[in-house]
Amino acid sequence: MISKAMEPLIHNNSAVRAMFEEGKQMAAKYGAENVYDFSLGNPNLHPPKEVKQAILDILDTEDPHRVHGYMSNAGFETTRQAVAENLNKRYGSHYTMENIIMVVGAASGLNILLKTILDPDDEVIVFAPFFVEYRNYVSNYYARTVVVPPSPETGFLPRMDAFEERITPKTKAVIINTPNNPTGAIYPAETLKAIGEVLDRKSKEIGHPIYLISDEPYRELVYTDQEVPFVPDYYTNTLIGYSFSKSLSLPGERIGYVVIPSESDNAKEFIEAATIANRVSGSVNAPSLMQLVIERCLDAQVDVPYYKKNAEDLYRIVTEAGFQCVRPQGAFYLWVASPVADEKEFVQAGKEEHLIMVPGSSFAGPGNVRLSFCVSNDMILRSEPAFRALGKKYFG
Ligand SMILES: Cc1ncc(COP(=O)(O)O)c(C=O)c1O
Repeated sequence: MISKAMEPLIHNNSAVRAMFEEGKQMAAKYGAENVYDFSLGNPNLHPPKEVKQAILDILDTEDPHRVHGYMSNAGFETTRQAVAENLNKRYGSHYTMENIIMVVGAASGLNILLKTILDPDDEVIVFAPFFVEYRNYVSNYYARTVVVPPSPETGFLPRMDAFEERITPKTKAVIINTPNNPTGAIYPAETLKAIGEVLDRKSKEIGHPIYLISDEPYRELVYTDQEVPFVPDYYTNTLIGYSFSKSLSLPGERIGYVVIPSESDNAKEFIEAATIANRVSGSVNAPSLMQLVIERCLDAQVDVPYYKKNAEDLYRIVTEAGFQCVRPQGAFYLWVASPVADEKEFVQAGKEEHLIMVPGSSFAGPGNVRLSFCVSNDMILRSEPAFRALGKKYFG
């Protein structure tokens, strides 16, 4: 017999994955070149060449006992120090290895931070639309997700009044994600400043810190001139969850880190608890070979201009077909307003044109669909007639 906690997960299995499976079936039926699958955020670009070279060098030159063995639950000291110095160089922070814990991708990093913070019935605030797994991560610790509704009028940036209203004495954390999945929005400095001010005031009022968890797997994937502000500069109790899944095209390798700044409340005890959370959650430590690889590849990058061109081409094609969407500033996604209230109907109509889109309700953003553009540019260009035909159905 399975647990009561798992039962609903079987019934609400990921819509993104379901669309991906459907895309695969359609590709088998109609030929892969005739199906335009925009479902998954699985990077299509190869990792930068430095990654392969680092793997080869490490296997050639490093002691296998070190490469494949256990290490401290927080990760290799050399890797953590290299990550700290890289952040210091880029953002003027003052981290040391003590502030860094290597983790098994952003998913694991967020779980470890939440496990460290949450007691049953605590509350975590998220801004819709949001990465759907947050709900599952929060409920792993028997806590509750509190959703701030989407605000299309602000380009999907958080509305402060709606946010503040949802803070209660049970609020322990707020999760933000910038650049954002699924909207592609980047939170500007003034938004982060406003969030920081609300959290400072409310933390004092309720008598315990509310942590701001910054989920940053898309930090480097930016398509405008605008800088992605460094969130800890705007609020002391910021915790970062970072991942190399997207920035180095390594999603299957499961490698990332969390940052717990020394200035945050009770930092020493928090770091100790989070390190233990890494162990007891079952991941024990981040993959050893990959830690050594990223230590050597912190300045490497995938071909960001490729994704920028994808973003521009898809935005042009979709808007010229008559649809309204947010111009993506970063991440991998185009957030498109459905021309009919029930976006599932729109997703269905897309399938008739062999377009695979993900319904926005799976991101708590009904009335929209998400298109992932970490796909081949060729597929994007070939999809133009399909979008045009879909547009004709709605706009004539
Ligand atoms: C916003 C967001 N957070 C976290 C993750 C999980 O990333 P990882 O592969 O590093 O676990 C993803 C993956 O798509 C994501 O989009």
